[in-house]
Amino acid sequence: MARQLIAGNWKMNGLSSQLSFFDDLVNAVGDSPAELLICPPATLIERCSRAADGSGIAIGAQDCHVSASGAHTGDLSVAMLADAGARFVILGHSERRADHGETSAEVKAKAEAVLAGGLTSIICVGETLEQREQGNAETVVTEQLLASLPENAGDRCEIAYEPVWAIGTGRTASSADIVAMHGALKAALPAGVSARILYGGSVKPQNAEEILGLDNVDGALVGGASLNPVDFAGIIKNTRC
Ligand code: 13P
Repeated sequence: MARQLIAGNWKMNGLSSQLSFFDDLVNAVGDSPAELLICPPATLIERCSRAADGSGIAIGAQDCHVSASGAHTGDLSVAMLADAGARFVILGHSERRADHGETSAEVKAKAEAVLAGGLTSIICVGETLEQREQGNAETVVTEQLLASLPENAGDRCEIAYEPVWAIGTGRTASSADIVAMHGALKAALPAGVSARILYGGSVKPQNAEEILGLDNVDGALVGGASLNPVDFAGIIKNTRC
């Protein structure tokens, strides 16, 4: 069984005045068998890396540009993110697919850049409520995965299954639906790809034990509840391994 990865996606939240988060989290969690990751906004990657130094908590980014450098005002390359201390890059989050029109082909190109830069990507996939109600969830999500995965991902690519309708809504997919989707995603992974499959969408201390105990759930990608060290610790404490 893979070691579970509990990742926090701070989205567009976080200021330097909140860096005590890391000490508070370490105090609240104690020893955890899980691998821990926080993905702050890019402005805080370097300071979070310093604040988390020695804690075992890795730091990641929420997006990157596909190119190594060049005339791309406002964008950040993988090398820049690595230089600031990032070890992971979240890619293809549904908010970026919706707000910035990111396609799976673009996500794949970014994931190739992440691999080339020596970091690990967390590729997000998930269906809309309409797609689920039409019975197309597994087809849509599996297609998204295969179109977003880089070539030769090996063990430097993780997947996050985040049903769009479960993000920030307080609604979570049923346990049966999570197990079925994670099983379908595992089965769809090309040979040689050992990606962990995280669940994301309204994960909180109250539902973490059930979700993290499910078959094929290799961790969680947590939004809102990762902003509060006590809530995030309450999730981490439910990791299975
Ligand atoms: P919430 O945990 O706030 O629903 O967000 C999930 C998410 O989008 C993580 O990437």
